[in-house]
Amino acid sequence: DTAMLDFTIVPSTTPMAESDRLRAFDNLGFGTLFTDHMAVVQWDADKGWHHAEIKARAPFQIDPAASVLHYAQEIFEGMKAYKAQDGRITLFRPEENARRFNKSAIRMAMPEVPEELFLKAVAELVKIDSKWVPEGEGSLYLRPFMFATEAFLGVRPSRQYIFCVIASPVGPYFKGGSKPVTLWVSEHYTRAAPGGTGAAKCGGNYAASLLAQSEATSRGCDQVVFLDAAEHKWVEELGGMNVFFVMDDGTVVTPPLSGTILPGITRGSIIQLATENGLKVIERPYSFEEWANDARSGKLREAFACGTAAVVAAIGTVRHSGGEFVIGNAGTGMETEKLRNQLTGIQRGTVADGHGWVKDV
Ligand code: COI
Repeated sequence: DTAMLDFTIVPSTTPMAESDRLRAFDNLGFGTLFTDHMAVVQWDADKGWHHAEIKARAPFQIDPAASVLHYAQEIFEGMKAYKAQDGRITLFRPEENARRFNKSAIRMAMPEVPEELFLKAVAELVKIDSKWVPEGEGSLYLRPFMFATEAFLGVRPSRQYIFCVIASPVGPYFKGGSKPVTLWVSEHYTRAAPGGTGAAKCGGNYAASLLAQSEATSRGCDQVVFLDAAEHKWVEELGGMNVFFVMDDGTVVTPPLSGTILPGITRGSIIQLATENGLKVIERPYSFEEWANDARSGKLREAFACGTAAVVAAIGTVRHSGGEFVIGNAGTGMETEKLRNQLTGIQRGTVADGHGWVKDV
């Protein structure tokens, strides 16, 4: 039973010196520093999942014809491990990542990774690299991913894959830390079309976002906003996170999971927390025009972006080809702040976890 594969553990013979690691922890950004190890499991059409290993993080050797390099069969996840004040190391809703990973796998015609195998790979990596989980504000960002390795140029699903997990100690995703972010609304580019891969966490979606994201960056914005592909009218999501709108009457609006946006685990958790806070959460299409009007009239009090990497980030200013508008007083609104504190408190073990979301490693 491949779900019960045992990991062969070969510790790195060249782990980073503790003094170097601690120095690097002083100034954590996002995704530039990596731990000593990785988890690797192989799949092929004859054997299924086999060869589960935890070993020193090192480059892969893959054939230049490996199908991922040509037809982009690749999916990934993003999750975080936290160090609680009592030293416990925890994960936030890891089963949700395992489930979404397999939905992505199905969409990209890749084999599913049994949930237990996914969770074990993550847990074993976190255990061997437990010294790498920062205390305080930081966390250990985990990146499970799978890619096609068969050397074959025909266009069909690969018969070989590698599933891997790497880990990166991280601080804030945005350079400005928890300062409200500025968005750029992309007029020419869309991220995903109905029937496409928008709901899958595949590398291709992010590749497709990059040009629009550079346009945002060149306009001095932190993230791009994508509108729907069919009408260029409805707000979908940002380059790498979901979006919420908080109205003056206590309703909260977020675009529905129509198949073209990423079903965020942070998104789902926020919907639950906001509802429990007495807000009425409505998942419905929200147009860019409505957004601009609501911001100007003051009906829209707050807006925020959310995701595993970004957590909850207030949106201050929205720029578009016709000008710009500000949300509220361009600061972090009350409900945004409250939801951020609740979510990060639960994740870090300082707020009671009434949902069973936090799992010990
Ligand atoms: C995450 O939030 O974990 C993502 O995968 C998105 C990316 C912006 C890092």
